[in-house]
Amino acid sequence: MIRKMWIAALASAAVMTAIPTANAAIELHNTVTGEPLNLDDAGPEGKDVAAFKEFLETGKNPYLDQPNCLAKAQELYLGACSGCHGHVGEGKIGPALNDSYWTYPDNNTDKGLFETIFGGASGQMGPMYNLLNVDEILLAMAWVRHMYTGSKEDAAWLNEKQLANFKPFDGKDAPKPQGDTLPECKVD
Ligand code: HEC
Repeated sequence: MIRKMWIAALASAAVMTAIPTANAAIELHNTVTGEPLNLDDAGPEGKDVAAFKEFLETGKNPYLDQPNCLAKAQELYLGACSGCHGHVGEGKIGPALNDSYWTYPDNNTDKGLFETIFGGASGQMGPMYNLLNVDEILLAMAWVRHMYTGSKEDAAWLNEKQLANFKPFDGKDAPKPQGDTLPECKVD
């Protein structure tokens, strides 16, 4: 009897640990070491959000198509990244994020950029999963892409439709249609 319960407990533990990545079609790796990233390192916040689930399926950041999410995206970038990467991603202690040069070339894909932010790179670029939840990481990424000043030919993260609609960064803050209140941001 005791043995049976033990087996049942083991089986349910296996199911529980399998949940966060069960639907993931992509595999995430540390940008520098190539070691697999463990999404369980991050708390549960944001993992149920539609945009994050879609990202795990496709490796693409759904927030790139959501102008209403830019205000939130900018707020997160300014809070978590601009101190080291500059107000408009021009670079400071950390490298510029608004041009087409990448120390780690995979950062010109959504998957690569997520990997760098979630798992960190070297030196001051530590893992960000304690500061931003997984959904907030996708949002901050959308603002990084919005600030891009390079040519659209080098913007590997843009799909065909996004390429057709591409506008270089105008240097302006994200619009906040309802005064100081952030517009509703969700992926439809
Ligand atoms: C404490 C300072 C600091 C903070 C905060 C920080 N970074 Fe960094 N970041 C760095 C440094 C330094 C590097 C260079 C590390 C390396 O080359 O391995 C870096 C590297 C990067 C790279 C790789 C760039 C390339 O050329 O391949 C990306 C992307 C990046 N950071 C994005 C972010 C984002 C987005 C945030 C906010 C969520 C953030 N960083 C927060 C310091 C920081």
